[in-house]
Amino acid sequence: MAKRTIVTMPGDGIGETVLPEALRVLAASGFDADYVHADIGWEFWKTEGNALPDRTIDLLRQHKLGLFGAITSKPKEQAAEELAPELRNKGYVYASPIVGLRQHFDLDVSIRPCQTFPGNPLNFIRRSGDGFDEPEVDAVIFRQNTEGLYAGVEWTDPPDEVRSALETHPRMARFKSVPGRDLAISTRIFTRNACQRIMTEAFTYAKKFGYKSVTVCEKPNVIRETSGMLRAEAKVAARNYAGIDLWETNIDAQMMWLTKNPEDYGVLVSGNMFGDIVSDGFAGLVGGLGFACSANIGREVAVFEPTHGSAPKYQQLSPSIVNPIAMILSACMMLDHIGETKASERIRTAVGTVVAEGKVRTYDMMRLTGGPEALANGAVNTTQMTDAIIEKL
Ligand code: NAI
Ligand code: MG
Repeated sequence: MAKRTIVTMPGDGIGETVLPEALRVLAASGFDADYVHADIGWEFWKTEGNALPDRTIDLLRQHKLGLFGAITSKPKEQAAEELAPELRNKGYVYASPIVGLRQHFDLDVSIRPCQTFPGNPLNFIRRSGDGFDEPEVDAVIFRQNTEGLYAGVEWTDPPDEVRSALETHPRMARFKSVPGRDLAISTRIFTRNACQRIMTEAFTYAKKFGYKSVTVCEKPNVIRETSGMLRAEAKVAARNYAGIDLWETNIDAQMMWLTKNPEDYGVLVSGNMFGDIVSDGFAGLVGGLGFACSANIGREVAVFEPTHGSAPKYQQLSPSIVNPIAMILSACMMLDHIGETKASERIRTAVGTVVAEGKVRTYDMMRLTGGPEALANGAVNTTQMTDAIIEKL
């Protein structure tokens, strides 16, 4: 088979630190590919007025597979101030390039596995009798990635035609006298196609990897139309998967249950915002941002990224202290996606061994405050963590 080309988008801040670490691990695992760098992030907003240049889109369209580090986003006013003087007042508007990528290529299925590595001092523990137990979490969150409350259809002071359209709904009567400038509206849009696709992908995954349940986690008792549509499509999809139970939870109760009985959950499915919330919740039980990996899967293109951001406060530290594992596990998800499962299993085993041995830990794994002094207090730096993983390979 022809060698693959993978588009690497380090982006900003610690994205530039952790992505090359993942490439070192990929190489050490024996996975052979060509890599092509693509520009993305704050620098390109400042100098070109576009954090997601067309040339990056072109590379992804051509090669279909991307590894992404992280980007920095800043509030509206600050974005405008940092734009190059010659670009100011020319109508450039900042938009998050990762959200842009998800929408451009319709990367509508986000997969976020949250699995315990035994021996991680950050694992969730629970009181039991006189002692504690440490349930092993193996939850995989499927988050609808392109619609819902994050679709971006929103206004403060909505135009008259929007107000009149909304006023055809009887429940809008309560807001009739609110002045436009005091009225903010963010819409929650679900489409049946996207609901069907995420449910089918989730059940297919559950079947392939032997999960016993798929939980649709929404709030259909209150958000009747959108949550209701996902729930209805969950029921339809479930019919084709005998032997996998369909469970339903409400997002608020789910956040409580995940700290009571997290080991009971397998695959979970949510819309965009609830998926964002519940996946961070589960990630917190298995090591947090230093361990949280994710995939953005479209019909043609797929991009893999840690869920953490650019952590600008650590960008300047030399040597870097951040944990590369989230990025490395994201690269494993890429390997799984293209069928290179032997390599991904080897890497996960190597990560698991390093974590279990407990000799090599980054600052976050030791609950230290992040800073240069973390190294003096026994934490390893980013490169040393990667080296330890590579040694196990
Ligand atoms: P963040 O994820 O960048 O950092 C939050 C904190 O988590 C850090 O200060 C650090 O203490 C810890 N952390 C993050 N990654 C870590 C790692 N690999 N190892 C150890 N500790 C780690 O989130 P924050 O501070 O809210 O945002 C910073 C910037 O990142 C913002 O500009 C934000 O817009 C952007 N962002 C980008 C994302 C993306 O590229 N997908 C996602 C989230 C935030
Ligand atoms: Mg999030």
